Amino acid sequence: MAQSWSSETPRSETPTLNDENDTEFLKKCAAEFRWNDLSKDYVMDIGCGAEMGFSKALLKEYPKVSALVAVDKEPTVFLKAGPFDQRLHLCVGDIEERNSLKQYEGKISKVISKGTFHQIKDKELAFQNVYRLLKPGGEAAFLFCLECSFYRLLTSMLKVPKLKAMFQGIYIENLYPKEHGKQYYIDMLTKIGFQNVRASEELKRIPFSSDEQCRNYLFEIYKDEFRVQSEMVEEFKDEAFQICLSTSGRYLRKPYYRASNLNLCGVKPLESSDSKTEQT
Ligand SMILES: C[S@@+](CC[C@H](N)C(=O)[O-])C[C@H]1O[C@@H](n2cnc3c(N)ncnc32)[C@H](O)[C@@H]1O
Repeated sequence: MAQSWSSETPRSETPTLNDENDTEFLKKCAAEFRWNDLSKDYVMDIGCGAEMGFSKALLKEYPKVSALVAVDKEPTVFLKAGPFDQRLHLCVGDIEERNSLKQYEGKISKVISKGTFHQIKDKELAFQNVYRLLKPGGEAAFLFCLECSFYRLLTSMLKVPKLKAMFQGIYIENLYPKEHGKQYYIDMLTKIGFQNVRASEELKRIPFSSDEQCRNYLFEIYKDEFRVQSEMVEEFKDEAFQICLSTSGRYLRKPYYRASNLNLCGVKPLESSDSKTEQT
């Protein structure tokens, strides 16, 4: 059944990254790696985000977990961190900066990362750093976006001179290269030294409840990216909405968000040294 898009979806989140997906991804990891009670495991959630959805779901599902390190490169995500939980360690760290997480190298038995790796520029370096963080025999699971309709929408919006002139955000050219698909990432992990590398793609289509909800949501996610004067708000909403329809059409007769996500996982061999990663 199609997921519906809650009007409460925080603006910082993309609709693929909601509670339902946290639990779904947790179940996938547990099934893939046959997790037990995690009572002997140090788990790390890379790019935990302000809502810490996956970390919270994991603590609830696995109350005996030895420790969970929630990592994010943005210190601000921890400002609203909930009540103290001795199993949870909050860590400001950047997976592209090896030194920021060096204290954990070789100590983590499970690294997971959901909704983050598509934002990472040097993915090979980041996967290498994950490999270094893992103990021999440690497992890693990633869920990230390979293509997303909102990126296509923004690309098309920036082709309209009037909208381009209003743009003040950051646009990354060719964020989702077509040739970077499932096999590309399987090869990347294998080259780093991961074993038993598996991947699967999933297509998510999330309809808005109405055209109006879509118009309002597009404004919410773009209001800081574009300088929209108050008298231009409705016009901006209309233009963004029309471009959304022309680039993606409708699903179940509703405007919708579409993303192709990659589930990717691998294991650090038991007899591993970090020789492959040390060469780089
Ligand atoms: C879209 S949010 C996803 C949050 C959460 N994992 C979820 O699924 O809802 C991506 C998060 O990754 C963090 N992030 C991006 N690049 C990172 C990096 N290189 N190292 C650590 N965190 C990073 C961002 O600050 C942001 O909080």
